[in-house]
Amino acid sequence: MNVIVKRSERRIKDRDDIKVVDSALDNRTAQAAIEVMRKLKLRKVFGSIASGKESRLYPAVDGEGKFYALKIYYISAAASKRSAAKYVAGDPRFEGIEIGNTKELVYVWAKKEFKNLIRMAGAGVRVPQPYMVFRNVLAMEFLGEGPRRSPLLREVPREEIDENIYIKLLEQLEIMVTKARLIHGDLSEYNVIIHEGEPYIIDVGQAVTVEHRNAEELLRRDLSNINNFFEKLGMRTVDVNETVKELINKAERGISA
Ligand SMILES: Nc1ncnc2c1ncn2[C@@H]1O[C@H](COP(=O)(O)OP(=O)(O)OP(=O)(O)O)[C@@H](O)[C@H]1O
Ligand SMILES: [Mg+2]
Repeated sequence: MNVIVKRSERRIKDRDDIKVVDSALDNRTAQAAIEVMRKLKLRKVFGSIASGKESRLYPAVDGEGKFYALKIYYISAAASKRSAAKYVAGDPRFEGIEIGNTKELVYVWAKKEFKNLIRMAGAGVRVPQPYMVFRNVLAMEFLGEGPRRSPLLREVPREEIDENIYIKLLEQLEIMVTKARLIHGDLSEYNVIIHEGEPYIIDVGQAVTVEHRNAEELLRRDLSNINNFFEKLGMRTVDVNETVKELINKAERGISA
């Protein structure tokens, strides 16, 4: 009895600790974050360093000083429900999944990002190393130094961006499409982090397989976004239609980069 009381008290204390980091977290989400902290032996979670439409990003550190990124999805985001439903539908990996409410859909969404990260990392795409997902909390490698994150491509000073970055990014795109057989679906200068001189692809929750009915259209948009960014800096870029056709062909014939 005593032990049980102590345990539940402890749990409430942990939850309050994490709520100090972000008081906007609901109880269930705080509990999920604590579970992840336990599993990965994280010592401390820092205040969020980025909040997007669908999630917030928290740096965390373990006892050995290694940093992690916790991406916590908002349970209530109506926008995420809409976009998640759109992308989960048509993906054979999520066929037959009953999605009753927003909470479950957000869990599926977090799991989808985790799976996409695993698949990309396994194929050799430069993405943050995925560690675990529990409910709406995804833990991955922190791209940065200490709690300071590395810059998005969008944030890198113009004079530091050269053709090399573009070429490296195209290489990542090729590996993603031909080896991981995934299309990002939301690729742009906002979803690429320049870390230790290399482009890393992030925010892969919406990625779909090359078999998806919209794969080609999504790939065309991804490449156009990237091209537009580099063209504005006065750089020459590859032909979108030609490159997309080539990549899809390679993926279909099972030829990898
Ligand atoms: N592994 C990571 N290491 C360091 N920073 C990261 C990492 N992943 C994401 N970030 C930061 O968190 C921000 C949000 O992450 P992400 O793009 O995955 O989420 P999002 O909710 O889709 O955001 P948005 O709606 O703004 O696109 C990124 O713009 C980046 O600044
Ligand atoms: Mg993003």
